[in-house]
Amino acid sequence: MTLTNPAAQAFGVYVHWPFCLSKCPYCDFNSHVRHGGIDQSRYVQAYLREIETTAARTPGRTVSTIFFGGGTPSLMQPETVAAILDGIGRHWSVSPDVEVTLEANPTSVEADRFRGFRAAGVNRVSLGVQALDDKSLKELGRLHTADEALKAVAIARSVFDRYSFDLIYARPGQTADAWSHELCRAIAEAAEHLSLYQLTIEAETPFYALHRSGKLKTPDDDAARELYDVTQEVCDKAGFAAYEISNHARAGAECRHNLVYWRGDEYAGIGPGAHGRIESDGRRYATATERRPESWLMRVEGFGHGLVEDEALTREERADEYLLMGLRLAEGIDPQRYEALSGRPLDQKRIAILREEGAVETTAKGHLRVTQAAFPILDAVVADLAA
Ligand SMILES: C[S@@+](CC[C@H](N)C(=O)[O-])C[C@H]1O[C@@H](n2cnc3c(N)ncnc32)[C@H](O)[C@@H]1O
Ligand code: SF4
Repeated sequence: MTLTNPAAQAFGVYVHWPFCLSKCPYCDFNSHVRHGGIDQSRYVQAYLREIETTAARTPGRTVSTIFFGGGTPSLMQPETVAAILDGIGRHWSVSPDVEVTLEANPTSVEADRFRGFRAAGVNRVSLGVQALDDKSLKELGRLHTADEALKAVAIARSVFDRYSFDLIYARPGQTADAWSHELCRAIAEAAEHLSLYQLTIEAETPFYALHRSGKLKTPDDDAARELYDVTQEVCDKAGFAAYEISNHARAGAECRHNLVYWRGDEYAGIGPGAHGRIESDGRRYATATERRPESWLMRVEGFGHGLVEDEALTREERADEYLLMGLRLAEGIDPQRYEALSGRPLDQKRIAILREEGAVETTAKGHLRVTQAAFPILDAVVADLAA
């Protein structure tokens, strides 16, 4: 079943750098602290090897986006980033207007380092600011102050045309007024893009244990809903409409790499714990690599790749994934593409009920999308449609 020609679609490369200076108590990303230092040259060889192996499976693609995520990729030496980008350019074609994003933590931002990343080919940075008040930053276990975060934003602005930063809201004790004020300050510092994540209590994190024992109190559902509404109101007014449930941008400034995931396009995952969706022989494969950095390194050195998962998706799985990811977007999903993927149309009766309830609507382009009012209950809407 060949649905589209993979060589004609957007193709992203995700590169995971799994190290941080310290582990934040809320975070369940694949990130590790190594006090003994990291042999970056050994890692470079492994990244290059995995790129070569993955490119051999996906010939003829043109890379449209590259994303260095983590962990803390700003801890990479600029030479490491340059070598990986060179490797990508040797094994795939790269679009002349490729978007190359690197995630940065304010604690590892210096102007020289950023200039080094720019010289390596990075053209967009995404900074983990998280909060603009010191008390919250401390509670979140961050190693930087609000001032230091804003200095990092200023450096990003001076070196890169495109930058974004992340904030976490629905923090313990946060009021709607305080959040509205903080968000306005953030918008004054933002150029074109902001990621605004509601604090999630993830299993197996220190925050999970604190939350369970009642020592960490997060806003209840009503308060969280109010904070969400404030987010939309303030951002809409400032021209930062949500194009995805947690991502806001001025028109045309969306993160093109993340759109690759949400639109169900193809991407390769490189590095420890990286996920990919690649097409081969007319099928789509869900791939994942070994999460532990040292085990990933040994696997790549031994086998040429760190894959621990490489599953061909069924039509239903592929269509469900398209629904799940695409409905996070304000642009919604294309019902015809859903039908081509799954072999059956969306359930019109369910859509009629959801439409009646004000949960979904059809856009001018004929896409189906979740209404702004129903975004906070997105998971329930998707579950209903996918059932
Ligand atoms: C890989 S981190 C970003 C870069 C860098 N490691 C940093 O923290 O500065 C990705 C983002 O996910 C968000 N995040 C991580 N854990 C979260 C949680 N439990 N709830 C909400 N947002 C979270 C944070 O905003 C963080 O900036
Ligand atoms: S939030 Fe960022 S810095 Fe903190 S542990 Fe997670 S990846 Fe590392």
